[in-house]
Amino acid sequence: MFDNLYIHVPFCRSKCGYCAFYSLPDTDEELQDRYVAFLERQMNDYSFVESLQTIYFGGGTPSLLPPRLLERLFLAVNAGFRMASDVEITIECNPETIDRKKAALISAFANRISMGVQSFDPALRQRLGRRADNTDIEQALAMFNHYNARRLSIDLIYAIPGQTLTAWLAELQQAVDYGFRHISCYALTVEEGTVLAQESGIDVVDEELSAEMWWATGELLHRNGLSRYEVSNYAAPGQECRHNLNVWHGGSYLGLGPSACSFDGSRRWTQPADLAEWLAHHPAETDLLPPENRAREIFVFGLRTAAGWRQADWTRLLPEIRNAMPWETLTSRPELPELVRQGLLEMTPGHIRPTETGMAFWDNLAQALL
Ligand SMILES: C[S@@+](CC[C@H](N)C(=O)[O-])C[C@H]1O[C@@H](n2cnc3c(N)ncnc32)[C@H](O)[C@@H]1O
Ligand code: SF4
Repeated sequence: MFDNLYIHVPFCRSKCGYCAFYSLPDTDEELQDRYVAFLERQMNDYSFVESLQTIYFGGGTPSLLPPRLLERLFLAVNAGFRMASDVEITIECNPETIDRKKAALISAFANRISMGVQSFDPALRQRLGRRADNTDIEQALAMFNHYNARRLSIDLIYAIPGQTLTAWLAELQQAVDYGFRHISCYALTVEEGTVLAQESGIDVVDEELSAEMWWATGELLHRNGLSRYEVSNYAAPGQECRHNLNVWHGGSYLGLGPSACSFDGSRRWTQPADLAEWLAHHPAETDLLPPENRAREIFVFGLRTAAGWRQADWTRLLPEIRNAMPWETLTSRPELPELVRQGLLEMTPGHIRPTETGMAFWDNLAQALL
């Protein structure tokens, strides 16, 4: 029933000023213990799930869990689910939470590590409210390399107030020089309710500079063998994150943990974004969308990727969705010729995809097509 699994780990050392993901800062181990025990029980219930293609531990900070709880979590996943022989297992890690024991455990269990560095510049990191210093970053990388961690990815944030284009490109080059073959670059967004929004206001980001940085990011990484395969993601060939690619293309996923979202190919539901409510079995909230609207949504999310949609991918979706919006109906939508004329989309028989400009203005595409 589900091809992909997402596990949300809702704990962080402290809350970064810009972050709106659900997580609790400064929690004790007893609460983390209860969280893992509850997940173990839930995983038992899902043991009927078919072979998983991908597993993604996100957060929050999965790597904050102490080694004994990480080990329990990994054992529970192994016991609860069948996995494809080439399953992709990703774990988000914050450098300052990594020690030798965790590096060994994580490198043995996962085959993809997503390192949240955000910036190599200590002053910018401080502005973002990040905990790690440069030594933490270097030591975490050294430990993962020592334990032969497989694919290492890095998350960076750009358009941070005070950051120049030249400084951003120097940071990006540093990530390339470290040897990362997958780089996620997110433009700083000011999310409602965050400390950043309260302290700096919603228009603190220079949007023009941010757009300039987006284009320059693509050029620098392209020269270094990494291509933009999604609006904010760059990879060398074969290094793309399969979990996210599946999700953007309407794949099914089971989301466990507070605030985690699940999708069975047509319906979507979200667990309560509150650890206490989640532990008390509060029900998930179902997002009821008619199949035609769901089909539009899936179509638009696929257009975040450079690959876009091939007819064969569309016809792999559940009948409920593809019958609500058959490929022929989709590709004859009256909005499309204008978007092609504006240079945002490219269409050939059996294939529709965004241009680079279309990815830069994905919000406009979404607005026109939803
Ligand atoms: C779930 S978050 C955090 C993962 C991990 N705890 C960390 O901090 O590295 C995944 C990524 O989203 C990005 N992110 C979160 N909030 C953002 C924001 N307001 N603007 C831009 N990027 C953001 C960060 O790059 C972060 O690494
Ligand atoms: S960015 Fe990561 S470490 Fe910071 S609060 Fe969000 S989830 Fe936690």
